[in-house]
Amino acid sequence: MGIEDILMHDESIFQNINAFDPDFIPDNFNYRDTQMEAMAMAIRPAIGGGKPNNLVVLGSCGTGKTTAVKKVFELVEKTSEKVITCYINCQLHTTRFGIFSQIHKKVFGHLPPETGVPFSKIYEKIMKHLQKEEKGLIVAFDDVNYLFQSKNANKIFYDLLRAYEEFPGTKTGIFAILSDLELRFAFDKNVNTVFIPQDITFQPYSYSEILDILSDRSKVGFYSGVISDDIIEEITEYTINNGDLRTGIDLLRITGNIAEANASREIKIEHLKEAIKSQTSVNLSETLKSLNSIEKSLLEIIVDSSEILTAGNLSDKFLEKEDVSYATFNRTLEKLEFLRLIDTKFTGKGVRGNSREIILRFNPEDFFKLCK
Ligand SMILES: Nc1ncnc2c1ncn2[C@@H]1O[C@H](COP(=O)(O)OP(=O)(O)O)[C@@H](O)[C@H]1O
Ligand SMILES: [Mg+2]
Repeated sequence: MGIEDILMHDESIFQNINAFDPDFIPDNFNYRDTQMEAMAMAIRPAIGGGKPNNLVVLGSCGTGKTTAVKKVFELVEKTSEKVITCYINCQLHTTRFGIFSQIHKKVFGHLPPETGVPFSKIYEKIMKHLQKEEKGLIVAFDDVNYLFQSKNANKIFYDLLRAYEEFPGTKTGIFAILSDLELRFAFDKNVNTVFIPQDITFQPYSYSEILDILSDRSKVGFYSGVISDDIIEEITEYTINNGDLRTGIDLLRITGNIAEANASREIKIEHLKEAIKSQTSVNLSETLKSLNSIEKSLLEIIVDSSEILTAGNLSDKFLEKEDVSYATFNRTLEKLEFLRLIDTKFTGKGVRGNSREIILRFNPEDFFKLCK
């Protein structure tokens, strides 16, 4: 295919390519009724002019938390004028000013000026408006752990939940969304007693639920006849073993792109195989980006080594190269194993597990391609 053909090509297998975007909101959203009802129950008092309940929304990645909250918020705004809902992505907004600017945008339809207006003025303007209009405010903090890192969570929660002290009559609530279950405990340390939440849990999807969701998404995204049930089953299988629902949706998109690049009207198993390969390298690239310099340095020794390494030789080489302790070596090695970059195989010999064999779990060439 020439470049002109590629650009002119209007015969696509995609009926709606946006259906595979990470922030696509599907019309058909099943299996989360219980959780969405619980959210509605928490908001309900505010619709009658009372105080809403606070929630912690818990569940691992790809269990539909973000989508469920957005759906409920949409319904609330359609149903009642009494409540303003505001969704905040904490990966994007972590400062008090940044977050209240987003709330300002939701309440007044535009952001406040970026300079010259102090936080307190913006805060006062929002709260006075809620007070005068007698409207409740629910703010969802998605991936709220990003606020812990910037140590702002406590202040921001306080600003919102204690607003009624300075602005009597204001009704405010918070939904805190968390993907890392271990952080549930960190939560109480980071946010003091003004925030008394009820927990709502999103369990991981089962095989048949994922299959159903992926089939449904394929119907929206592809023209009929493009993808077979067999391929969707393969993708479901891969998703269950290697990731979460987002992996599956991503694979649908990548597989479709590969089929299209091969001028095929149908998705074939070889397209899926290629898609899985390319996705593994995307995941690897992201994992590698997240490593600190010490972790990278240890991984480099493993990648560069032409012989089979044991934990013992590896620690010698590492402690020669870096000025760190044996404990740091051990911790770093554990981290690489946790990230599934390496495996360590116990051979039963030696002390302190020093005879463990170190096995790289990816192709070293990919490391050079991605890191150099
Ligand atoms: N029950 C469902 N039905 C259809 N699509 C879903 C469902 N649950 C999740 N998804 C899709 O899976 C992806 C991840 O969902 P998301 O709400 O971002 O999960 P989380 O916030 O828990 O990580 C999104 O593309 C979303 O549209
Ligand atoms: Mg999410």
